[in-house]
Amino acid sequence: TDQYAVIGNPIAHSKSPAIHAAFAAQTGEPIEYGRILGDPDDFAGDVRHFVAEGGRGLNVTVPFKTAAFELLDDLSEQAQAAGAVNTLIVRDGGLLRGDNTDGVGLLRDLTENHGFTLAGKRVLLLGAGGAARGVLRPLLEAGPAELLIANRTARKAEALAAQFSHLDASATTSAPGNTLRRAAYGDDRQPRTSSTAALSTETGQRPDQSLGACQKTHSVAGRGLDGIAGQRFDLIINATSTGLDDQVPAIPNDCLARGGWVYDLLYADEPTPFCRWGQARDAARVLDGLGMLVEQAAESFWLWRGLRPQTAPVIARLRGG
Ligand code: ATR
Repeated sequence: TDQYAVIGNPIAHSKSPAIHAAFAAQTGEPIEYGRILGDPDDFAGDVRHFVAEGGRGLNVTVPFKTAAFELLDDLSEQAQAAGAVNTLIVRDGGLLRGDNTDGVGLLRDLTENHGFTLAGKRVLLLGAGGAARGVLRPLLEAGPAELLIANRTARKAEALAAQFSHLDASATTSAPGNTLRRAAYGDDRQPRTSSTAALSTETGQRPDQSLGACQKTHSVAGRGLDGIAGQRFDLIINATSTGLDDQVPAIPNDCLARGGWVYDLLYADEPTPFCRWGQARDAARVLDGLGMLVEQAAESFWLWRGLRPQTAPVIARLRGG
């Protein structure tokens, strides 16, 4: 039996063990998946210990995603773009690789589970912290007409937009093609990141340079929350932490387009404050982050085991359905 775990602090509330147990039962993979309460002062020691005991992979959650990014040398393009690692893969011989499946998880939930098409849409991403950065690259690769990052602290949104402006079609000069789209979504027969990401590390290329192959029709910009006025969006994604304080970001009441969707990266048993904001403004669909949680787990499972579990029954079960 191969050992996996989720490491975080706190960790008792994590749904990851239940999700991966369901994936293991469904696929018949011989794995065990536990939870580790990480030491905030010695994340590296916890990882070393897990690997020494024969562990094969970790999911990394709050507050260790950045520490994991800094600890690992071998990082996928998604992890590099996110500046964070949520999936750690122990390779034969004990070499560690960091990946990030959060953004792909969001995209799968939005587009495959719920049928939202990002191409040509106007998207508002609220927040410019770790959660926002973690989902930006796959969002941009899906080719929205416009992606506005709006944050309470404007300069953080501006900096984040600048960092991802190489994915802005108007700033891209390389040949057309969407190799990154394939890299991001993977080919079911092949681990999705190994070839492209290995290439960029082995050639010593800076990660940013390897992103030039992506050419999409979109623009990315960053503003303060007061920079939203007068605009309407087809999709508003809440990547702020305001919901944890039972609040929503201070955004205009009329910034959701008719027929627009609302997605909160947070989830809870009750509708989150931002989901309630969307309901009150007649959003066509109001989604919370539970689907993304299960999808990012499925993507991690695939990186570890090379099998893609079915997510719908697991999402339904977690919803109590
Ligand atoms: P996470 O990892 O969850 O993204 P984070 O990196 O601390 O956590 O980022 C929290 C995000 O929520 C930030 O974008 C933050 O805005 P600031 O950059 O201005 O701090 C946002 N946020 C937190 N409380 C907020 C509030 N009351 N109103 C609006 N935005 C808020």
